[in-house]
Amino acid sequence: MSLDLFEKFNPILNDYNSLPEGAANPFTVSMEKVLSPTTAIINGRETVLAGTNNYMGMTFNAECMEAAQKALTEFGTGTTGSRTLNGTYDSHKKLEDTLKAFYDVEHAIVFSTGYQANLGIISTLAGPKDYVVIDSDSHASIYDGCAMGNATVVRFKHNNPDNLEKRLARIRRDDPEAGILVVLEGVYSMLGDQAPLKELTAISKAHNAYVLVDEAHSIGVFGETGRGVAQEQGVEDQIDFIIGTFSKSVGTIGGYCVSNHPKFEALRLVCRPYMFTASLPPSVVASATKALELIATTNLRTKLLDNSRKLNAGLYNAGFNMGTKGESPIAAIIIDDQNTAIAFWGEMIKEGVYVNLALPPATPNRLNLMRCSLSAAHTFEQIDFMLEKFIIVGKRLGLLQKISKQAGISG
Ligand SMILES: Cc1ncc(COP(=O)(O)O)c(C=O)c1O
Repeated sequence: MSLDLFEKFNPILNDYNSLPEGAANPFTVSMEKVLSPTTAIINGRETVLAGTNNYMGMTFNAECMEAAQKALTEFGTGTTGSRTLNGTYDSHKKLEDTLKAFYDVEHAIVFSTGYQANLGIISTLAGPKDYVVIDSDSHASIYDGCAMGNATVVRFKHNNPDNLEKRLARIRRDDPEAGILVVLEGVYSMLGDQAPLKELTAISKAHNAYVLVDEAHSIGVFGETGRGVAQEQGVEDQIDFIIGTFSKSVGTIGGYCVSNHPKFEALRLVCRPYMFTASLPPSVVASATKALELIATTNLRTKLLDNSRKLNAGLYNAGFNMGTKGESPIAAIIIDDQNTAIAFWGEMIKEGVYVNLALPPATPNRLNLMRCSLSAAHTFEQIDFMLEKFIIVGKRLGLLQKISKQAGISG
């Protein structure tokens, strides 16, 4: 008898099937209607969205929608081809020009998703004789980029400059000529903590390594003109490659990499996740281009960060066990027990608030998280509503603890 290819999934299926009887299922929830960047109909009721990564609220921006509708009418629903064949329209080039202007760099390549940007750039740049050095909390797309490539992969402890120094020193001792690519993130997606890019880039440069920073959760959110944590921390000139996504602040889908490396354009000829997939549809390209222009010229960051401070401080002051000190629009409540986390999620939905339930293996240190990601489009009234509901459910489940146990957050 042939082996059942699905047998290896039994442990995860068993976990999935052991969801408590009658519990709301966080894995099958769907938005029946989306009313705005911050509200939707879920299970027939109006729900405040507190976990969508829609940091700038761009999904319903009138100018972005108008640009998308115009492109849809003029160019159709899709390109039906790869960038290297029939899938490059003038609008794809304009989007890349917009990215170059946004970052003030020489080169930009647009991918069909941020996932593919990491997959393609990491696996293509680092060859068999090279090293990729990654933070242990890296996003799955970074891990998958490493797995797809042929380089030696070395991990360092999350946001730990001393440990990065140790790893790089050892590589250099063993292989003085090796090419090294250090991969960092501006903001880590699950807990919302920022990377100490100043220290990490200084160490990387001292060991003659290239630095790539994934700003998926920080484009639009940080920096004087919204370029991300590298701009915020004043280290853009130390960074060789910035990767980002259009699926969060930009409000649509797609990914990109920008760089000043003089040979960067060679990647269009060798990077398989760029070459062997269809390009973005014209409507998506048009709305992404418009959103980037708006992010560069409109300051939505102040409102977003005010909202974030209010939610983080409110949750902390209520006595929740918070993942970080509120360094970004991401607020994550740590819940020790997985079934309690699932129950928490279900109770919040019943109360009219949608948050992300984040469970292992998607989380660092196998944490169970109720993860919020705020938007500049949220009103203070909506944040008060979220806080009220979090506190009701937190009390019901016995999750509020003495504040003195936690690191301080002011807000
Ligand atoms: C840090 C990071 N990089 C890359 C991605 C992938 O982005 P996309 O949704 O465009 O594939 C994500 C998405 O969650 C992310 O959090």
